[in-house]
Amino acid sequence: MMFSLLSVLLLVMQSALYSSQQFSQLTPNVLVVEKELQNSAEVPLLCGEAYEGKDISWRREGTTLPKRGNRITVTVLEMMGGNYTCHDSAGTVLSHQLVLVQMKGGQEQRRILGKMKDTDHIKCLSRNYSGIFRCSWQWSPNRHGSVVHVSAKRSSGTGNITCSVDEDGLGITCIDQFQCTYAEEQNDINLAVHVRHLYRLEEYRIKFSIAQIVKPDKVTIVPASDSTFDLQYPKTWSEPDSYFPLTFHFKVMNRKKSKDCDYKSDRVQENFTRNQTITVQNRREFRLCVRARDDLCSSSWSEWSQYERKSEENKN
Ligand SMILES: *[C@@H]1O[C@H](CO)[C@@H](O)[C@H](O)[C@H]1NC(C)=O
Ligand SMILES: *[C@@H]1O[C@H](CO)[C@@H](O)[C@H](O)[C@H]1NC(C)=O
Ligand SMILES: *[C@@H]1O[C@H](CO)[C@@H](O)[C@H](O)[C@H]1NC(C)=O
Ligand SMILES: *[C@@H]1O[C@H](CO)[C@@H](O)[C@H](O)[C@H]1NC(C)=O
Ligand SMILES: *[C@@H]1O[C@H](CO)[C@@H](O)[C@H](O)[C@H]1NC(C)=O
Repeated sequence: MMFSLLSVLLLVMQSALYSSQQFSQLTPNVLVVEKELQNSAEVPLLCGEAYEGKDISWRREGTTLPKRGNRITVTVLEMMGGNYTCHDSAGTVLSHQLVLVQMKGGQEQRRILGKMKDTDHIKCLSRNYSGIFRCSWQWSPNRHGSVVHVSAKRSSGTGNITCSVDEDGLGITCIDQFQCTYAEEQNDINLAVHVRHLYRLEEYRIKFSIAQIVKPDKVTIVPASDSTFDLQYPKTWSEPDSYFPLTFHFKVMNRKKSKDCDYKSDRVQENFTRNQTITVQNRREFRLCVRARDDLCSSSWSEWSQYERKSEENKN
């Protein structure tokens, strides 16, 4: 009894020791060490299966290491990862491994991305149901990072989502090749973004459906006569309108009192789901504001579109 308890304890201790440093290959050239900040980690590096038995030298960020051979072990202290290159006897680069450090249980310790207004660290939007969406983020002050890896998958495993990182590194544009515009979405999209600052790696995840992140472009206001206006669906919204109805809100406000469309107005806001001609009566000056959102789910409103009418004497 005593004995088995002891061996269980030993096993637990061993696995705790073992798991205090974990390695994973995030991409063919990026090796991730998951560890506590204060612990050091022994990280095994391999130059390449093809170089077994060859005389291989190693450099970290250009500085030659004393160890040689196809397989070496390097010590990673605190956050000191590095870009390790291996070379043949002529000094030619054979391959490289970027070693990055991810803090253990680091959800609360993440600091590369900043929190965004009314959302977490990543904000995703889509203009329609075509399967194309954009996600964006911002760096924390003094931590201009870079994107290491992006993965986007439907939770069912179906779908084929490919993403490309924007040039400024502050967002991605993705397309789900298998997204069927007319089918109901059965599964959420799981997005994982790995970013780094120096050798520190952090992972950010977000889960959503296209229906949740859809935000129509601005409504088009077309003046039809002096007092009537045609309100039209945004050109980029999914078609047909009957299948993808939008709810419109509009308000007609005193032009001088209201600086812009965000001005609080207690005037009736009506809603309708078709192109509409509206009439503004008995007003020489006014501000007409219109916005729209998906009629079938409470996703984001579009930005307001506005039309401003000034009276003759105020025109210049
Ligand atoms: C690491 O070094 C290799 C070889 O010099 C280079 O191609 C690669 O861009 C470097 N990676 C980083 C992140 O600096
Ligand atoms: C996923 O889409 C990419 C880009 O269009 C394509 O190259 C790849 O073959 C697709 N994969 C599958 C499983 O359809
Ligand atoms: C849907 O939005 C994407 C980009 O957000 C755009 O390229 C595409 O043309 C839009 N679809 C329609 C029907 O306009
Ligand atoms: C549309 O307007 C009616 C009447 O003002 C209101 O009861 C209803 O909640 C509105 N619907 C939406 C989706 O805003
Ligand atoms: C709304 O107006 C646009 C632009 O004139 C047109 O393309 C679209 O078919 C109209 N939709 C409906 C439901 O009338």
